[in-house]
Amino acid sequence: MNAIPAAVIVLAAGEGTRMRSSTPKVLHPIGGLALVGHAVRAARATGAPLVEVVVRHQRDRVVEYLAAFDESVVIADQDEIKGTGRAAECGLDALPAVTSGTVVVMNGDHPLLDGDTLNGLIARHTEQANAVTILTANLPDPTGYGRIVRGSDGSVERIVEHKDATDAERAITETNAGIYAFDSELLRSALHEIGNDNAQGEKYLTDVVAIARRRGRRVDAHVVTDLWPTEGVNDRVQLATLGKELNRRICERHMRAGVTIVDPATTWIDVDVTIGADATIRPNTELLGATSIGAGAVVGPEVTLTDTEVGPGATIRRAEALLAVIGAEATVGPYSYLRPGTVLGPKGKIGGFVETKNADIGEGAKVPHLTYAGDVTIGAGANIGAGTIFANYDGVAKHHTRIGKHSFVGSQTVVVSPVQVGDGAYVGAGTVLTRNVEPGEIAIARAGQRNVADWVDRARPDSPTAAAAQAARAAGARFAPTETERHTDNTPGATAEGDAR
Ligand code: UD1
Ligand code: CA
Repeated sequence: MNAIPAAVIVLAAGEGTRMRSSTPKVLHPIGGLALVGHAVRAARATGAPLVEVVVRHQRDRVVEYLAAFDESVVIADQDEIKGTGRAAECGLDALPAVTSGTVVVMNGDHPLLDGDTLNGLIARHTEQANAVTILTANLPDPTGYGRIVRGSDGSVERIVEHKDATDAERAITETNAGIYAFDSELLRSALHEIGNDNAQGEKYLTDVVAIARRRGRRVDAHVVTDLWPTEGVNDRVQLATLGKELNRRICERHMRAGVTIVDPATTWIDVDVTIGADATIRPNTELLGATSIGAGAVVGPEVTLTDTEVGPGATIRRAEALLAVIGAEATVGPYSYLRPGTVLGPKGKIGGFVETKNADIGEGAKVPHLTYAGDVTIGAGANIGAGTIFANYDGVAKHHTRIGKHSFVGSQTVVVSPVQVGDGAYVGAGTVLTRNVEPGEIAIARAGQRNVADWVDRARPDSPTAAAAQAARAAGARFAPTETERHTDNTPGATAEGDAR
């Protein structure tokens, strides 16, 4: 018998009142995926040719999410009649081609339901030729869940909702996970029979069970011992609890695959993140979205990476990056902010208090301290001095700057874009650079230095400072000329603004 279901119907039309949120419940994320995204993933793992999501509450938002997440998902709209039974009915009505075989119906709010658990349910349903197979678990605290009522022979007779249950029924710990395999014909006809005479005035999907029994059909439960996949999110407390467990499972998977995670309790990794062997993730780190970490990289402490690619052997600490690429053996941090379009070459460096955006930094190039580098291409082996600002915005438009290979930009330079610095060129410290610099040139644009002899004696007579100066002079102390004096200041006016070339 074919164990692949004809369709999986995900119920996601409910309001999720207990979330107290303007966002529909099924769009709340854990592990970087909305709850309904987790449901669709599990549904896809069955191999079913049709995966359908039933929507109603804020349907456009849910549909928009799904279109981006999995464009081949079928959308069905639930009408104003409430309840999971009505949702399943609307879902099935939108799949007229499904006339036989198995249909899986699952709540859209069970993010830890995985493909293996779902396939286990389907396998049992198929092997035993059941009309209905319910995923169940024995929960230590079954409050709120539907209870599985079994007859004296142990067979499943019906499901009673917590709100409709007697005290004796509430004492039952076997609960309905809200995940079922049905014979599609039985489901279709039984759903038409269901009323709404219950505590919530809704059409309950769970009532299909008693109807199947009345018709003499086989109903069975697939009892699982891993309780997490059976737990639904109804409020934000459960969202956090399940989010933490999902994260624990993700961390465990990476550790078993050869990643060192120093403190899994403070490391948050989204489901789709990939990490190479022998990478180390240090505490208080978030790896989000489509982030990938190369083998042997060291990430953390205190790093948040979103949709960022980290090369093998790179080191990143106390940093935040979004849509960035960090090359092999490059180093980032501490206190660095890499914004979209940052590409750091192999062995490159982005150091402390540096912000980058649309910055292509070549192999071995260094931006070590206190810099803003936006809209810039920095050649291989170049060095950008402390405090350099790439002034890419003139108040109207953004402009792009190019710094050549093995060039050296002195500290506290303001590069007024657009401007080009050739390969192997220098820019003197403190320059406000507004003109291009050819290869091999040095550019200096700042007020020339003026030293006024004996100023201290006149302006601060009888001070400790004046005494110190006099003592030094008496001892005959003189400084040797600095590099700058020897190489540039020997040209009169070389350091005066605009005279550098
Ligand atoms: C449901 C089950 C309960 C089970 C529990 C497991 C019913 C009647 N009860 O209760 O036995 O123990 O799940 O978590 O099925 N939905 C719709 N349309 C609606 C109402 C709900 O699509 O009109 C969707 C929701 O979006 C949600 C799912 O169905 O994804 C479950 O709805 P929810 O209201 O959370 O059901 P529970 O009260 O938890
Ligand atoms: Ca629920």
